[in-house]
Formats: sequence, C-alpha cells, structure tokens
Amino acid sequence: MTRNVHGANDEPGSDGAMDQMSAEDISAAAVESFKGCSSMRLRELMQSLISHLHAFVIETELTPEEWLAGIEFLTATGKKCTENRQEFILLSDTLGVSMVLDAVNHRLGPLATESTVLGPFYVPDSPIRELGESISLIEGNGEPAIVSGTVRNEAGEPIGGAILDVWQNSVRGTYAVQDPSERQDNLRGRFRTGKDGRFWFWSVRPTDYAIPDDGPVGDMLRATNRHPWRPAHLHLIASAPGYETLVTHLFDDESAYLDSDAVFGVKHSLICHFERHAPAEQGGPKGAVTDWYSLERDIVLSEVMK
Ligand code: BEZ
Ligand code: FE
Repeated sequence: MTRNVHGANDEPGSDGAMDQMSAEDISAAAVESFKGCSSMRLRELMQSLISHLHAFVIETELTPEEWLAGIEFLTATGKKCTENRQEFILLSDTLGVSMVLDAVNHRLGPLATESTVLGPFYVPDSPIRELGESISLIEGNGEPAIVSGTVRNEAGEPIGGAILDVWQNSVRGTYAVQDPSERQDNLRGRFRTGKDGRFWFWSVRPTDYAIPDDGPVGDMLRATNRHPWRPAHLHLIASAPGYETLVTHLFDDESAYLDSDAVFGVKHSLICHFERHAPAEQGGPKGAVTDWYSLERDIVLSEVMK
C-alpha cells in the first residue's frame, strides 16, 4: 500500500482518495516532464537528479520545517559567495562530493600518482621560477624545506620539460590569496623539470590548517560535530604534453588530521615524510641556524589515452 501526499491510503473510498497521487506517482510525473529535453545529457542529469532528490525526501520523510531549514541553508551559502570566496565549492568539498567527482573523472593508470581535490586557493599563472629557487618569499613563513623528485611516466622514464605548479600555506595557516595584505606571489610558483625529469625547489614545511568556517559550511560542520581541519600538505599540478594533467597534494606523515581530513582528500599513497636535518648538515639553506627539512618524492604521470 502506498501513502499519498496527504497521508491517505490509495484504496477506493467515498472520499475519492483513489484519485490522489502518491509521492511516487508525483516523482514519476516530474521525471517524465523532462522527456522532451532535446539534450540527451541534460535530460539524463535532470531525471537522475530529481529521482535521487525525491527518493531522499521519501526515505527520510522530510518535514516542511526541515525542508525550509535546507532552503535557508542553501540561501545563506549563496549569499556568502563573493569573487574571492566560493562557499558552494567548500560545501561540495566538505560533503565529499568533490572527491567523488575526482574519483569518477580521473581514472589514471595503476602506477600513476593519485589525484586529489584542487581546493579554492589555487591561483593560475604563478611566476615561473628557476629550479632550486624558493617559493617562500617572506621571513617567518615557517621551517625551511627542500622538495625534490623526478617526474616520470608509468614505464619509469623521466619526463623532461614537465611543469610543476606548486602552492601551499604558511606557518600562519593561510594561503597568500586569503590575505590581501600579503605578497600575492608568496608560496607559489611554477617549475620546469630538467631533461632528466628532475625538479627541486625550496619552500617551508606546510602546516595543518582549518578551512574557512565562518560561514554556513562552518555552521554545518559544528552542527554535525565535525572539525574544519585539513592535514598539512603541499599542492601541485603536474603537466606535460601527451600526459594527463595531475592535480594532487603531498601530505605530511606527521599531521594529526590524516584520518579526518575535513574534505576527504587524503589518499594513502600521497602521504610523505619530511626528513629533519640539523642546521649545519650539508645541502641546507646558506647560514642556516634552525633545523631544515627535505622531501624527496617522484611524480608519475599517465599517458593520455588515444
Ligand atoms: C585546500 O587544500 O586548500 C582546500 C581544499 C578544499 C577546501 C578548502 C581548502
Ligand atoms: Fe590546501
């Protein structure tokens, strides 16, 4: 027996309840209403989306108050968006949608470095820097770290001329783009691998940081007893002609948040070790007085399928 929209049963009766449509009937009619859509893909997306939405309402027996709270939440999310802040993407990230999207769209080869979420702090057209240069341009960004490796293909061959676009946060927990008073080219840069596929550059050891939680997404995290923290990581985009562009992170294995990343971005294979060195150890920054770190990590790209 199905329940109709007014809660009555679908059995014949003197009140004419037989004519009333059930939730399932209404859902089927709404799906059907898109059958004339001339774009097959748009039709598929709309029909699937509303089927799932209706199934959610039916399965949870959503109340009008809950429906309104949801509408108000989405309205507040839209109002929080500005040119520099995309609260809907943050919502997608914190609901795991962005990572599921990534998994569905980036089916790389089995030996390729795994991908992860881009995040909202990527700024295109970072300065091109020489191998060995530092992306840390101001004092007090954190502990010095040299990051090096080889960009290879899945056969293990080096890829010369690959571009590594890297960006990260400082010890203050923020990216330059989050602070208009900061040098906007700080802690980001693009490097070109040598003929041997090698890259190396100086930076600072990244730190754990909280995603922006002063808006509706933060309210949602607090209401559900979730925290806003991401484990320390360095972002990179690796690209080379003939290869799939890779968007990924390198995570610090000493972070406390590897098992509870607020945006579900951690993949085990992307967890790396920053080796600690004493100031006087060979290979450190000139005149180093503090400990410094090194991270050596190869990046493996998948060939574009023909
Ligand atoms: C980030 O890694 O920068 C990031 C990713 C998703 C949401 C917020 C921040
Ligand atoms: Fe990040």
